[in-house]
Amino acid sequence: MDEQYEIIKMVMDGRLHLSPFTRDHQPGKVLDIATGTGLWAIEMGDEYPESEIIGTDLSPIQPPFVPPNVRFFVEDSTEDWDYPKADFDFIHTRVTIGCWSDMKREIIQRAYDHLQPGGWVECQEVPGMPHCDDGTMPDDYGWLQWTKELYASSRLANRQVDCGEQLKEWMRECGFVDVHEAVFKIPLNGWPKDSRLKHVGMLWQRNLLDGLSGFSLQFFSKYLNKTQEEIEVSLVEIRKSLFDRKIHAYHKLYVVFGRKPEE
Ligand SMILES: C[S@@+](CC[C@H](N)C(=O)[O-])C[C@H]1O[C@@H](n2cnc3c(N)ncnc32)[C@H](O)[C@@H]1O
Repeated sequence: MDEQYEIIKMVMDGRLHLSPFTRDHQPGKVLDIATGTGLWAIEMGDEYPESEIIGTDLSPIQPPFVPPNVRFFVEDSTEDWDYPKADFDFIHTRVTIGCWSDMKREIIQRAYDHLQPGGWVECQEVPGMPHCDDGTMPDDYGWLQWTKELYASSRLANRQVDCGEQLKEWMRECGFVDVHEAVFKIPLNGWPKDSRLKHVGMLWQRNLLDGLSGFSLQFFSKYLNKTQEEIEVSLVEIRKSLFDRKIHAYHKLYVVFGRKPEE
């Protein structure tokens, strides 16, 4: 997760968010849902010393030494949020796909209710489906096949893994205005000629390789009835496919943000 954090920060040119907050216009209360190891919340705390940052997650895996304006709580965000309504100035998610069965209802609508009028929501999500602009990705590309299998098992598990393109529509439907979307490309390996993108791609490839067993085991064993051995054997070819630089595949990082209207 920490590596993933650094890659996404690099892709976003070092920006923590695209919502219109600055040092001169700091958010009051900030909520980071499914904060993971909490790096985003910690860096927000450093960047905005006047803000109060709360990070929540199912797992207490955040470090103990954090800026004084940052706090972490264990919380299941699919259950009622333990905060007053209309209380936050900024609510954020990053790479939470696979956590929700209905992100619009469970997260975006609740974010609307818990934001003050004028507050912002921002979702930074990377759906798993690879894309390709130059026809070099064949239908039998291993990583593409694996992703399709992941999507199929996630549907059986009632977990959305394709939240990206729909985010802006969901935000508007929940009542947000001034909704903006930015889409960044993250190459699946070091195929790009551009040296910055090549570097990003090589880091992303390593992150995907590190995560592959973890992304697969629960979904494929529980919902596709495969044994752990069968899964690991099938992943050998998927890993190999990720080294093929002739295939110019990339993931899309969707950064979508919108404002709750003033009353
Ligand atoms: C891929 S990590 C992303 C972490 C972090 N946002 C980041 O960008 O590094 C997804 C996180 O969601 C958390 N999570 C999953 N289901 C959750 C739930 N129902 N409520 C709160 N957190 C949840 C997991 O524990 C995990 O830390």
